[in-house]
Amino acid sequence: MATATTLAAKPVIKVAALCGSLRKGSYNLGLLRSAIELSKGSVEGLQIEHVDISPLPFLNTDLEVQGTYPPAVEAFRAKIQEADGVLFASPEYNYSVTGPLKNAIDWASRPPNVWAGKAAAIVSAGGGFGGGRAQYHLRQIGVALNLHFINGPEFFLKAFQPPAKFDGDGNLIDEAAKQKLKENNDGDHEDVELDHGFARLFKATKAAEEKGYGVLVNSFYEL
Ligand SMILES: Cc1cc2nc3c(=O)[nH]c(=O)nc-3n(C[C@H](O)[C@H](O)[C@H](O)COP(=O)(O)O)c2cc1C
Repeated sequence: MATATTLAAKPVIKVAALCGSLRKGSYNLGLLRSAIELSKGSVEGLQIEHVDISPLPFLNTDLEVQGTYPPAVEAFRAKIQEADGVLFASPEYNYSVTGPLKNAIDWASRPPNVWAGKAAAIVSAGGGFGGGRAQYHLRQIGVALNLHFINGPEFFLKAFQPPAKFDGDGNLIDEAAKQKLKENNDGDHEDVELDHGFARLFKATKAAEEKGYGVLVNSFYEL
């Protein structure tokens, strides 16, 4: 017979996944697809949804009317607002985040700033540093947004070094990279200091918030 405990609703942890590249065959979008696939079943209740930033207009505060925003912006802001955490995947454009991603970030920062207090993680695929410089700029932007990035493990994929990491449609095909991405999601990292993964961080943050503790990041125990 089902008990009250087994009938209790399991918390759903919603993660908004944003890609900084608008390219159809984007490697970074491929990383997000893989992260979504690899995370299925790894953390109970985790739901990662790709939120497309391509419909957003260029930020122009003239488009704000009495505190309201264009429909595409309102829809985007609502997706961020309802998310418990954010997973970014962005290439590096001239050593920084891409223009489209910065535009999306800026729209969601307009009042009220819907990023505030959320947990976040970053993965990237790019050239020689695997998009690392974009990741570090994104972390800096996160300070202004009051967005809490997990410190590690870090995931940078050198997309152009052999063996091929992606197929022609931007799907991640390299098994070693997939394994590393899974560790990044779930924890079980060889470095015990970083043995959490973003999925568990999001879960712990939500549990802490439900208990009235506010955000809990980077160094935590599962509640
Ligand atoms: C405008 C522009 C600037 C770029 N600058 C960098 C850079 O600074 N560092 C780097 O590693 N790759 C750079 N790249 C290459 C991208 O990392 C590469 O095109 C990557 O595959 C794009 O990601 P995507 O496959 O998700 O679209 C640049 C590409 C563009 C279009």
